[in-house]
Amino acid sequence: MKILVTGGAGFIGSAVVRLAVSRGHDVVNVDALTYAACLENVASVSESPLYAFEHADICDRAAMDRILAAHKPDAVMHLAAESHVDRSIDGPGAFIQANITGTYILLEAARAYWEGAGKPEGFRFHHISTDEVFGSLGAEGQFTEDTPYAPNSPYSASKAASDHLVRAWAETYGLPVVMTNCSNNYGPYHFPEKLVPVVILKALAGEAIPVYGTGENVRDWLYVEDHADALLCVLEKGVLNRSYNVGGENEATNLDLVKMICGVLDQRRPENAPHADLISFVADRPGHDLRYAIDPTRISTELNWRPSVTVEEGIAKTVDWYLDNQDWWSALQNRDGVGARLGTKS
Ligand SMILES: NC(=O)c1ccc[n+]([C@@H]2O[C@H](COP(=O)([O-])OP(=O)(O)OC[C@H]3O[C@@H](n4cnc5c(N)ncnc54)[C@H](O)[C@@H]3O)[C@@H](O)[C@H]2O)c1
Repeated sequence: MKILVTGGAGFIGSAVVRLAVSRGHDVVNVDALTYAACLENVASVSESPLYAFEHADICDRAAMDRILAAHKPDAVMHLAAESHVDRSIDGPGAFIQANITGTYILLEAARAYWEGAGKPEGFRFHHISTDEVFGSLGAEGQFTEDTPYAPNSPYSASKAASDHLVRAWAETYGLPVVMTNCSNNYGPYHFPEKLVPVVILKALAGEAIPVYGTGENVRDWLYVEDHADALLCVLEKGVLNRSYNVGGENEATNLDLVKMICGVLDQRRPENAPHADLISFVADRPGHDLRYAIDPTRISTELNWRPSVTVEEGIAKTVDWYLDNQDWWSALQNRDGVGARLGTKS
């Protein structure tokens, strides 16, 4: 299959690109190379004859038309987005532009391409979204695919809007779509402004490890390579016009996750133990959702998909990856906003 992946120089998109190429798919990576992108993430496949890169913005309709016509993909996997909640609080405009306008333009370009090709039945537009569109849970319950949307941040609202556009393009124009809403990812190549790499890198530097509020917020942690596997599974086997929730079956509070990372670092760098002494509670994020949890029944029963690692295994692999790849993350620490506290406006 030839797959056009948007956002393939980012964290999850690059995991999809690496996995798809390793499974023999042709991949066209379309990425605007924003502050969050890193082409090193796909260096392992960039020389492959199966891989092509297009430096382009999904908001550029002419570029999308040209790329689709030139590469003639069988599927589009749409991951390009502004993705950091804290940045969406400080500057929501970029999220409206990339996540809503960008998805609209990509949908229109994909529709024109699909219609121009005679509406091939096998074509798929796979929209990759987040469980954050469902809002916040209390202590009980899980998000199903039928949970009403109730986004609370500019980021999740922009993703919710993009989900609605994709659904409408399927209903109105018949565009063949599948959709996924996924929980928090972690793993190799995670940009160093997100919680897991921030904790690892602060702990390694012997600096205070910031934990928002009291650290009681619960997330369902999914190893990024398991997410990439789930996305290819949904692309290949998912029922047309259906959405699938993807979770790691690994709920943990932020504080427990931070302590887990510190525990792995205590084993790897015992001379600096206990790293948990560096934990420092800081002002909470405005509108910080308390709990997300995924009910994975649909993807596990219909598509027979399950995550392959526990959060303990995945965190140990992730810490080891950061210990082995200092060149990768140190080059990104100079990028705009990295290391600064963002998203405190309310
Ligand atoms: N990170 C998570 O835990 C998580 C969980 C569920 C869903 N998602 C979704 O998965 C997708 C990927 O997330 P991520 O964490 O890899 O994000 P990321 O920020 O690491 O990567 C996003 C990529 O998209 C590119 N991009 C941004 N705007 C673009 C534009 N206008 N045109 C072309 N490329 C553009 C960036 O350059 C970057 O390479 C997003 O749609 C996000 O909403 C993320």
